[in-house]
Amino acid sequence: MNAPMRSDDSITVNVGLGARAYDVAIGRGLMATLGDRVAALRPGCKAAIVTDETVARHHLAAAEAALKAAGVNAASVRVPAGESSKSFAMLERVSDALLAAKIERGDLVVALGGGVIGDLAGFASAILRRGVDYVQVPTTLLAQVDSSVGGKTAINASHHGKNLIGAFYQPILVLADTALLDTLPEREFRAGYAEVVKYGLLGDLQFFEWLAQHWKDVFEAGSARGNAPAPREYAVLKSVQAKAAIVARDERETGDRMLLNLGHTFGHAFEAAAGFSERLLHGEAIGLGMALAFEFSARRGLLAKAEAERAIAHLAAVGLPTQVNAIPGARPGLDAIMDLISQDKKVRRGRLTLILVRGIGQAFVTRDVDAADVRAFLAEKLAAPC
Ligand SMILES: NC(=O)c1ccc[n+]([C@@H]2O[C@H](COP(=O)([O-])OP(=O)(O)OC[C@H]3O[C@@H](n4cnc5c(N)ncnc54)[C@H](O)[C@@H]3O)[C@@H](O)[C@H]2O)c1
Ligand SMILES: [Zn+2]
Repeated sequence: MNAPMRSDDSITVNVGLGARAYDVAIGRGLMATLGDRVAALRPGCKAAIVTDETVARHHLAAAEAALKAAGVNAASVRVPAGESSKSFAMLERVSDALLAAKIERGDLVVALGGGVIGDLAGFASAILRRGVDYVQVPTTLLAQVDSSVGGKTAINASHHGKNLIGAFYQPILVLADTALLDTLPEREFRAGYAEVVKYGLLGDLQFFEWLAQHWKDVFEAGSARGNAPAPREYAVLKSVQAKAAIVARDERETGDRMLLNLGHTFGHAFEAAAGFSERLLHGEAIGLGMALAFEFSARRGLLAKAEAERAIAHLAAVGLPTQVNAIPGARPGLDAIMDLISQDKKVRRGRLTLILVRGIGQAFVTRDVDAADVRAFLAEKLAAPC
């Protein structure tokens, strides 16, 4: 089965949230349309682009040019690249810069970057003058398929953990230009791919099977041109459709949206134990977390071992870690991992909330899991030889 779209098609997914509904436009080369789209949505507005130093080097000029061509004046604010920019200090800096740029209600913030910029600029928009509109222009695969859609924004608390200070605040437009991913380092692309395959694993067997067959084409930069099928755009589209549908059903994560946390309870614990560092990127941790979720589910007799192995084999084939011993550096201790798992914000009134699977494409939320079972399972994993 080929991807049923061409690379230069622009496809729109609507996130159906009533008065807060918005479009996600997906396609190669869409950046050039940013100005026209913004001018159509907010005629006469000014804009301020928030970005990081790395993304600025590659893509800021194109964003500025697109806005200017449509007569939209845009200031820009740059922060250092990396997770450490999701801080109070950087929130203050960005807020000051937005005020200095005289961004008022009716004007626009443009978040140009990966999930870090989307989260930081989105949260700054939520609180600036009690809320100004913002547009997401995601530049990582992770941001295109996950963080730019759904309106979760946040910074990290310096002593208490990630994403603890934030708001649900929806953008008015998401522009996912897949050509921006051509400059993304392969390791970052692969980490983002973990979130793509997550949508297959949690709810769409067919999409998983398509990915297992076509993942190399999804990775390949610029392979989708002319009349050729466009696997990368198709993968982004399917992911955004899946996320948009879930968000529209459960904006504030009281039910179904929790399914998007497949692999995240285990994954976050290992990500935190590795210090949120280059040792283990978020998507890599999620690859590992999903592999563990499948294995743990198989152990509990929820699905056949061979089915779990099929899921894990694909994660391994793309180069994502699927075993604890794939994490470089010192192996975390069992107590530390269990502490991190129970501190996870998905814990409610002391019960462990896990996303488990009955098969590929059949994830479900459960609060029935005894922490002791998880502990025994992880003890075994952590004791495995290198
Ligand atoms: N809000 C949500 O729903 C949600 C969901 C998932 C993750 N997140 C958050 O997203 C963050 C991770 O996002 P990320 O993986 O995009 O990280 P990121 O924003 O740090 O980007 C990763 C790296 O790639 C660089 N980069 C970005 N785009 C590039 C491009 N086109 N070319 C070259 N380099 C580029 C960045 O400068 C950075 O160094 C985490 O903070 C996580 O908490 C939020
Ligand atoms: Zn994630």
